Amino acid sequence: MIDKKSPLPIYYQIEESIKQRISDGEYQPNDMIPSERILSENYDVSRMTVRQAITNLVNEGVIYREKGRGTFIAENKIEQSLKGLTSFTEDMKTRGMTASSKLLNFEKVMASGEISRKLEIEEDEEIYRLQRIRYADQKPMAIETNFLPVAMFPNLNKEDVRGSLYDYVEKNKRQKIKKASQIIEATIANEDQSSLLEIPLGSAVLHIERHSFLEDGTPFEVVKSSYRADRYKFSSDITRG
Ligand code: GLP
Repeated sequence: MIDKKSPLPIYYQIEESIKQRISDGEYQPNDMIPSERILSENYDVSRMTVRQAITNLVNEGVIYREKGRGTFIAENKIEQSLKGLTSFTEDMKTRGMTASSKLLNFEKVMASGEISRKLEIEEDEEIYRLQRIRYADQKPMAIETNFLPVAMFPNLNKEDVRGSLYDYVEKNKRQKIKKASQIIEATIANEDQSSLLEIPLGSAVLHIERHSFLEDGTPFEVVKSSYRADRYKFSSDITRG
């Protein structure tokens, strides 16, 4: 499998070989891979070379290390298209996964400058601030904090946000959610995020801010989300000219 005469570095060939085993289904998510010692014997290369390959794969997010336990195959990342305006519940359903949420916070607060401007309301007007951990098949994927004008949804309560918020909004307002603008930024997990998302402190997190509008052009939400970067990737089709 390893061609020592190849111009390709040996550590690179090992990386490719492990990736191949993953795509062949020989290694499944969360399977433990053999130790460095075993791998170096199997590939007949030095442990240093194996270590280099392993480190690169960990940095790429293909495998992950757990202190005192070993090295494991990472879960596949969910590929999210940047095209459609979809809800978390819909996104998971399309993938055959079950969405669920844990409500961390549901409160009415005064709108701040930025939020009130975006929601086109006065600064002292009330907004809901609701914070949920979003799960896919019971595994934490994201923390989302939504801000919505109270005046627009006067009867919104905790029960309504156990399921899909978008479902509630469209039924309640009797119109479709039409468009949103979104910004995605790279961040690293702080203590709260690391414990809620069950990831090591300092892991990569994708911070997404969405500003969404109804069919009639009314802005109805501002959302600040933190998505696990080890479980999410975004894709888009682009054209030139
Ligand atoms: C996605 C978006 C959020 C949006 C949410 C609604 O996760 N990133 O901005 O608020 O979907 O999801 P649901 O209707 O499942 O509550």
